[in-house]
Amino acid sequence: MSTVVIHSEGLGKSYHRGALQQSTLLRDHLSRMLKSPLSVFRRPKDETFWALEDVSLEVREGEVLGLIGRNGAGKTTLLKILSRITKPTTGWAEIHGRVGSLLEVGTGFHPELTGRENTFLSGAILGMGKSEIDRKFDEIVAFAELEQFIDTPVKHYSSGMYVRLAFAVAAHLEPEILFVDEVLAVGDAAFQKKCLGKMGSVSRQGRTIVFVSHNMTALQRLCTRVVWLNGGKVTDAGDPRKVIDHYLQRNAVANLESVWEDNLTAPGNERVRLRSVRVIPQTDFGELITVHTPLRIEFTYFNYVPEMMLNVSMFLNNLEEVCVFNVASDFAPRPAGLIRHTLEIPGDFLNAGSYYVNMLIVKDASTGILFRDNVVAFEVVEGEVVGNWYGRVPGAVRPKLNWRSEAIDAGDLEVSTARGQST
Ligand SMILES: Nc1ncnc2c1ncn2[C@@H]1O[C@H](COP(=O)(O)OP(=O)(O)OP(=O)(O)O)[C@@H](O)[C@H]1O
Ligand SMILES: [Mg+2]
Repeated sequence: MSTVVIHSEGLGKSYHRGALQQSTLLRDHLSRMLKSPLSVFRRPKDETFWALEDVSLEVREGEVLGLIGRNGAGKTTLLKILSRITKPTTGWAEIHGRVGSLLEVGTGFHPELTGRENTFLSGAILGMGKSEIDRKFDEIVAFAELEQFIDTPVKHYSSGMYVRLAFAVAAHLEPEILFVDEVLAVGDAAFQKKCLGKMGSVSRQGRTIVFVSHNMTALQRLCTRVVWLNGGKVTDAGDPRKVIDHYLQRNAVANLESVWEDNLTAPGNERVRLRSVRVIPQTDFGELITVHTPLRIEFTYFNYVPEMMLNVSMFLNNLEEVCVFNVASDFAPRPAGLIRHTLEIPGDFLNAGSYYVNMLIVKDASTGILFRDNVVAFEVVEGEVVGNWYGRVPGAVRPKLNWRSEAIDAGDLEVSTARGQST
């Protein structure tokens, strides 16, 4: 069995809520005193909270550990402690190996230095010699696709360029342990794909990776193990598929509907603006969706242009990122005002698994005028087990189709004496 390269016991990190906003300026104290004279005698409430609590981990050499959890769950805090950017309040962590990390945009590089200088500086921090970095340099620049900008100070880079270089440096300078926080959220789809490929090859070289992502497909493809953090604590850990399914299931109910009450924050433009997307299970059993449950999916949006020819096109995707189907509503001139489209998905059609919906509103049956990914997500679970098969039925869909089975003609067939059972 390979050696343990990351070991933590009882890691915790507490912060003071609001500490970031508290000002030490005299001007602010004065204005507060004028607004509420007694407040200066009041002690500020001690709002300590735990961003991370009692996290014990053991990661072995060559493992690819995924960290999942909602916003604010403590994922970045954990990576920061492991890469020694922040000190834990409680517990300890031991790391064996050269660490490369890619945390937030804005950490790591010196803004005044060029891409080239930062690359050499990062290598030196990792303990590499100049000739060693020289050998890797061209590959890094090519990967980051920054040939023309490598001698420009990184403060002039766009955030996408910055992340491309940061990822290229972190992944190519041969760290033994790589921490990656949510790189996939920045950069275009082609670069994200390249990063995933690179992480795959880094892990095949036996390096250890800990990475945070909200991209469940990427996690499932790359990770050997997944840890789910919730409110700073480990809620579940283990087999990626199981933990991800558990996480989605727990969070799925909250994703059955997206409603934008406020037009200022609702996705939209001068032509249309989303109001809500809902998955409505047609069942008496609450929100549990089994393979037998018919679903209604409802889209509502405001149309601001009278008589505009509009329809909704929806993509149902599964966790493997396969588009199970794309269907479009009828297209017709719509009056100005709130429009609703409702789609029925019959029961006994979808397979068990996690699904998410991407949508677009189309004008004149040809031009997408509003795109929105991941508007709702839901989980389809097994119904009652029929027959002797207890495993997952393979397939992107599981339609109930009509079979007819009948005996046609025995003729003069020689009949076997074996009993009619499978062996
Ligand atoms: N320096 C800080 N001072 C005060 N609170 C902080 C600080 N850094 C993080 N927090 C808080 O700690 C909690 C955990 O934050 P963290 O950044 O680890 O979450 P996360 O899981 O990475 O979330 P996301 O998915 O949004 O990146 C949050 O409530 C956050 O507001
Ligand atoms: Mg984070």
